[in-house]
Amino acid sequence: MKVDSYILVSHSIAIHESSLKGHRNKMIYSKHNRTNSETEVSMTAFLRWAGSKRQLLPTLTTYWSENFNTYHEPFLGSGSLLFSLSPNKAAGNDLNKDLIQMYEAVRDNPKETYREALDLEVTKEVYYATRGVDPRELDPIKRAARFIYLNRNCFNGIYRTNKSGKFNVPFSGKKTGSLPSYEIFKNASKQLRRTRLTSVDFEEAIINDIHENDFFYLDPPYISRDKRIFSEYGPECFTEDDMKRLIDCTDEINKRGAFFLLSFAECDRTMNNLSRFITKKVETRRVIASSSKKRRIENELLITNIDFDIKKTAGSDL
Ligand SMILES: C[S@@+](CC[C@H](N)C(=O)[O-])C[C@H]1O[C@@H](n2cnc3c(N)ncnc32)[C@H](O)[C@@H]1O
Repeated sequence: MKVDSYILVSHSIAIHESSLKGHRNKMIYSKHNRTNSETEVSMTAFLRWAGSKRQLLPTLTTYWSENFNTYHEPFLGSGSLLFSLSPNKAAGNDLNKDLIQMYEAVRDNPKETYREALDLEVTKEVYYATRGVDPRELDPIKRAARFIYLNRNCFNGIYRTNKSGKFNVPFSGKKTGSLPSYEIFKNASKQLRRTRLTSVDFEEAIINDIHENDFFYLDPPYISRDKRIFSEYGPECFTEDDMKRLIDCTDEINKRGAFFLLSFAECDRTMNNLSRFITKKVETRRVIASSSKKRRIENELLITNIDFDIKKTAGSDL
């Protein structure tokens, strides 16, 4: 397999990178025509998030077409692709309930949430005092502001809780905490109003919600033999069995005439189970959970059932 070129292909369709480029550029161009310059500049994710796909956005965005119906992101995290694409109709899900409640507050009260987050001073003392507050005692706006403040200022953008559910990530000690502009929050709020939010296991979010011509971006947590990585998303981690369930979901999406893009760290087992789909390999720099300095280059696999001939004819307006 060659890095950064499309190879394989299911259903014996040979796809050449050069022929894909033309279609992709057309799709992106039509999207850019639709959006205004304000959205172009400031529709972006506002969280730091372990496993965020921000660095892969130039590649990931090319898989989306305005001709798809609903955009789904069942492992939402910071939603870097959702906010970047800014689709008209979307569904966002994450098992992390605190994260989804925070998005609901930003959706409903962007100004108040932003103000509350801005009021929290970025110092070690204020960080630990804020971390020590029981979020259940706060109203939804203050709870969301606390979530955002801790996220902006914690070590490596990790969300980790102890067994009793208390956020326990240490202060970053660096100047990571400055909030993105209010413009970004306001635009995120607009996108969240077009997004149905849920907090359930990915299988439930996917299986009950597949409609023909929908698009699913699947970005599960990283599975590693290094057990420390598991702690990035709390005491529960993504297991080999979860991965099998996710692969079954991709089959179901495919069967029901919808589309998916799955991004996943390369490993032999993934390849064996998904080799019937179209695969591209891209390099990514991954932060190691235990260290802010160490980053390693790894291959990320992008696996999809989108064949660009289908993409060209999808939807009624083509
Ligand atoms: C790799 S991150 C997604 C990153 C996101 N694409 C971004 O750009 O920020 C994976 C997310 O899956 C969530 N998650 C873990 N297990 C899950 C499950 N069983 N069902 C749904 N979400 C889950 C985690 O809370 C985490 O936010």
